[in-house]
Amino acid sequence: MSESAVLSADQGAIRTITVNRPDKLNALNAATLDALLGAFDAAAADPAVRAVVLTGAGPKAFVAGADIAEMAGLRPAEARDFSLRGQRLMRRIETLSKPVLAKMNGFALGGGLELAMACHLRIAADTAKVGQPEINLGLIPGFGGTQRLLRLAGRAATLELCLLGAPIDATRAQQLGIVNRVVPAAELDAEADKLATQLANAAPLALRGILDAINVGGECAIEEGLHYETAQFGLMFSTDDMREGTQAFLERRKPAFAGR
Ligand code: COA
Repeated sequence: MSESAVLSADQGAIRTITVNRPDKLNALNAATLDALLGAFDAAAADPAVRAVVLTGAGPKAFVAGADIAEMAGLRPAEARDFSLRGQRLMRRIETLSKPVLAKMNGFALGGGLELAMACHLRIAADTAKVGQPEINLGLIPGFGGTQRLLRLAGRAATLELCLLGAPIDATRAQQLGIVNRVVPAAELDAEADKLATQLANAAPLALRGILDAINVGGECAIEEGLHYETAQFGLMFSTDDMREGTQAFLERRKPAFAGR
């Protein structure tokens, strides 16, 4: 039986989703995009899951891009569908109501960087390389790269990465605001575990409120965004978690959040 292109495994409340095509540097073909969408739908639906880690199998790559071999033969209408398929996945991740951490263990190029950018936080090994090299294939990014990189790192960095197509190292990516943290490769697993544990122990409804407010606020006028934030803020006062968090502070103990 051929092994699945996407693996899901749980450790406590943390679900790790792994793109599992290491012999192709985890390149995203249509079947892998679909499997990832299914994996994120399942993570969203499972109340036991409080945080998601997304990574790539093998020592070399997070994801080295969309699958060039599959793309090479596409006709324009099929390419449009492929782009839409990728964009649907990225949007699903970005709008998930649970935090998603990209653990970037190597190359994150093209669709790989687009996938990482759809996640809410990014931690990279110091050996990772990121870029939007589509220009070298006579192509442009098609899974949201021109738009998310622009919002994440601004116009100058986006133009540089997309027009020149050269990968940059993780430290430069951090300087540009593309990744949140860079750690020695040998420490990536432990550091990602620490972050994911912190997220999994946080108040789930407050995490959701933050993710929703930031997603809404990124796409509307500030008055509308502020209005949404206020509504979410008020809503938090109906949760047990808010009572627990404030009470635990006053009692000088650690809170235990139940997600209610
Ligand atoms: N799509 C399809 N296959 C890919 C791929 C991609 N994006 N990236 C890597 N692979 C495959 C290679 O074809 C090779 O397969 P093979 O062993 O069957 O020939 C395998 O993965 C290993 O890659 P290889 O190129 O031999 O590794 P490397 O260490 O020499 O180079 C990279 C690594 C990442 C620099 C190089 O693979 C690369 O440039 N990949 C494409 C990056 C890209 O342009 N991404 C954007 C796509 S839109």
